[in-house]
Amino acid sequence: MSVLHSKKILLAVSAGIYIAAFLVRGLIKAGADVKVIMTPDAQHFVTPLTLSTLSKHPVEWEFFGDKGDWNNHVEYALWADYMIIAPCTANTLSHMADGTCDNLVLATYLSAKCPVYFAPAMDLDMYQHPTTKENIQQLVQNGNILIPAESGELASGLVGEGRMAEPEHIITFMEQHIASTLPLYGKKVVVSAGPTYENIDPVRFIGNYSSGKMGFEIAKEASRLGAKVTLVSGPSHESCHGYPIERINVISARDMYEAMHQQFTDADVVVMSAAVADYRPKEMATQKIKKNDEDMTIELVKNPDILKSLGEIKTNQLLVGFALETNNEEEFAKQKLAKKNLDFIVLNSMQDKEAGFQKNTNKITIIDKDLSLETFDAKSKADVAKDILNVVLKKL
Ligand code: CTP
Repeated sequence: MSVLHSKKILLAVSAGIYIAAFLVRGLIKAGADVKVIMTPDAQHFVTPLTLSTLSKHPVEWEFFGDKGDWNNHVEYALWADYMIIAPCTANTLSHMADGTCDNLVLATYLSAKCPVYFAPAMDLDMYQHPTTKENIQQLVQNGNILIPAESGELASGLVGEGRMAEPEHIITFMEQHIASTLPLYGKKVVVSAGPTYENIDPVRFIGNYSSGKMGFEIAKEASRLGAKVTLVSGPSHESCHGYPIERINVISARDMYEAMHQQFTDADVVVMSAAVADYRPKEMATQKIKKNDEDMTIELVKNPDILKSLGEIKTNQLLVGFALETNNEEEFAKQKLAKKNLDFIVLNSMQDKEAGFQKNTNKITIIDKDLSLETFDAKSKADVAKDILNVVLKKL
């Protein structure tokens, strides 16, 4: 999923070639909510109707409407998560640099508190002019983000530098720039989720009711925060479709052990939210077991404790575990925290009706390795994931 998904983007169009229409389409495709404002002259190049059809919002270019009302530039500026001025002509550039404020685009730019990107578009000699270069420098110095012009055929027919960056390049530029500002950018987060299945024979297994929801929400939230995420999942119907998450599907505790150890060395954060089966049948029957006898006994052997084994080899990784308890909750969770060498543990109590398997909600207490405790209200698993990652962020 693009980092632009669900973001409010204000596109300000000045008098340059029609390509702004493709930019609106690309931003919408990335999942953004796009509003467009224009300079009055921009209408000679692209019609407001085209841009409003693509953006599904009215397009404005005048301070004053025809019903005695006015287009509030401050409202536009406050609405936007990001503003982008594209194409940004030499004239608009120069006015932005000197603070002139005689049209809706310029007034909105001056009111913007969000990050502002600008993509110059002009003829090659104008782009090379020392005044233009000074203006660009001034805008960058003022904290705006330059999306440099590209080389190619220009509206004048000349060929050279000055052509607005291709819409898809602008979108990639913005995505990478926004990602680099996210708090988990550059970090690798490994999350385990779901149950494990331990085969009895080719058609039966020992498992548990874990849906994987909690781990999937943690993985998605870490991805939204800019991390490179690997999700090691036992059998689960949950999906992380649309997120740039590497998903490794496993079945048994031993598969999960292998996958987690493979991912561990270069991980920065590891969250073990899987409900790992503690025991597995000593032997897996190669054929379906027939019901010949009245009684049947399956001999079980212990599975490896994945989290404990990671705690034993951990160097700089922040290691987070879960504890699902029915009684004496805090005490058992604290024992696990110490025994598995964790940085913190997320405690769920089966006593809380909002917690547990197959639910959309959860109620957690986080116990830190210094044994301090933070209890959270019951909330959706998506919001619980936010709380857990907030603690991770504080600790990083
Ligand atoms: N865990 C693990 N490997 C196991 C069992 C558990 O990595 N074989 C992890 C879980 O993913 C969780 C933490 O250890 O993060 C605690 O799991 P839990 O089932 O609450 O505790 P156990 O250590 O299995 O102890 P018990 O079942 O006796 O409560």
